[in-house]
Amino acid sequence: MTKKMWGGRFAGAAAATVEQYTQSESFDRALYREDIAGSKAHATMLGQAGIISPDEAEELVRGLDAVLAEIEAGTFVWRRELEDVHMNIERRLTEIVGPVGGKLHTARSRNDQVALDFRLHVSARLDVWSGELARLVDVLCARAEEHVSTLLPGCTHLQPAQPVSLAQHLLAYAMMFRRDFERLQDGLKRVRVSPLGAAALAGTTHPISPAQVAEGVGFPATFANSMDAVSDRDFALEALFCGSVIMMHLSRLCEELILWANPNFGYVRLPDAYSTGSSIMPQKKNPDVCELMRGKTGRVYGALTSLLTLMKGLPLTYNRDMQEDKEPFFDADRTVSSSVAIMADMLAVLEFVPEAMRRALGKGFLNATELADYLAAKGLPFREAHHATGAAVALAENKGVALEDLGLDELRSFSPLVEQDVYAVLTFEAAVARRNLAGGTGPASVAGQLAELRAWLAGIR
Ligand code: ARG
Repeated sequence: MTKKMWGGRFAGAAAATVEQYTQSESFDRALYREDIAGSKAHATMLGQAGIISPDEAEELVRGLDAVLAEIEAGTFVWRRELEDVHMNIERRLTEIVGPVGGKLHTARSRNDQVALDFRLHVSARLDVWSGELARLVDVLCARAEEHVSTLLPGCTHLQPAQPVSLAQHLLAYAMMFRRDFERLQDGLKRVRVSPLGAAALAGTTHPISPAQVAEGVGFPATFANSMDAVSDRDFALEALFCGSVIMMHLSRLCEELILWANPNFGYVRLPDAYSTGSSIMPQKKNPDVCELMRGKTGRVYGALTSLLTLMKGLPLTYNRDMQEDKEPFFDADRTVSSSVAIMADMLAVLEFVPEAMRRALGKGFLNATELADYLAAKGLPFREAHHATGAAVALAENKGVALEDLGLDELRSFSPLVEQDVYAVLTFEAAVARRNLAGGTGPASVAGQLAELRAWLAGIR
């Protein structure tokens, strides 16, 4: 049985079951890079502040680099009985550099150490999420540009409502993912705060410089209150909330792609690389990637709910419960980063079927609003125009024809304001082309949205 690093006042060893139950090494070893970066910054600061000698600081940094090299080479021996990533690394450091290794933990506690490691990790991962989101927005822009004049039924209540361009539909998602990106950037301001120097909970008596450590790890800010610094996990909660919203947006897109791939819609053909077959029904091509992404959304919500629940009853400051903060984040991170990346890859090669979208426009009287607006523009109060159009729709429906198939006399029977020019107004192209006010589905508006998104993409690169 290895003597615990905190074992000074202990006579007996922990039960084997307890050792297994309380360890976090099996998952927090994923934080080794952050742990070593934090320790190097801390050691350097201790040397410059004269708390340890410059030679000792140098020795610690050299030793930490040696540990890092061992881990990356796969030769490092992880020891579960050492509890966690922090003590595994510190123990090996001490083996390499000798007793000076014991000085690394001066003016530091695992409480501020783990908070720093986790913040560094979340920060790096949110950068990755951001990069993938930007790529997704880029792909959506590229696909939208191809389909400014491809029209399809826009829906409300999943019922045909008004014609829109496929570009407008795709850019709606681009706007969501841009907001998701910006939400991450805003959250990152609160992630990138170094807690090192808070020590166990009350700060330290050593003349340290938390700002120097923050600078050493690339964080622009330091903690303002030591008790808050070791207790706060809202930075991770915000990350999980951002991840949940990203997944919710992806899931809605997945739901639409699943519908669109159904032969009753037929708006998209799934690339072979992103669909799977059935083991019993030879004709099947299933949208499993989209279904799984929709399903995995629940895991990310679960992670957010776990952490919220974990934190809700904890008194200040650090409590061991908080060790349970990492696995939900790691799991959510795997899900969010891979989902955004796969969606971008899939959309880049997805085949749209404009003819099927076109056919669908023929069902559902998608130009009824045009007739009502036409009458309203000629001075009829909109409510009356709406009523007259509704009656025209009922007639067309009874006859089994489209609105534009009704004769001029038939249309005039609902309002004498109708003239021959109505037929040009009732085309789907005209309906879309007229909606060029900012944000509308008209081609000029769509071009404006595209230009704006591309300028934004250029600006964040
Ligand atoms: N493994 C611990 C965690 O993840 C590190 C901090 C332990 N601190 C303590 N006071 N026992 O939270």
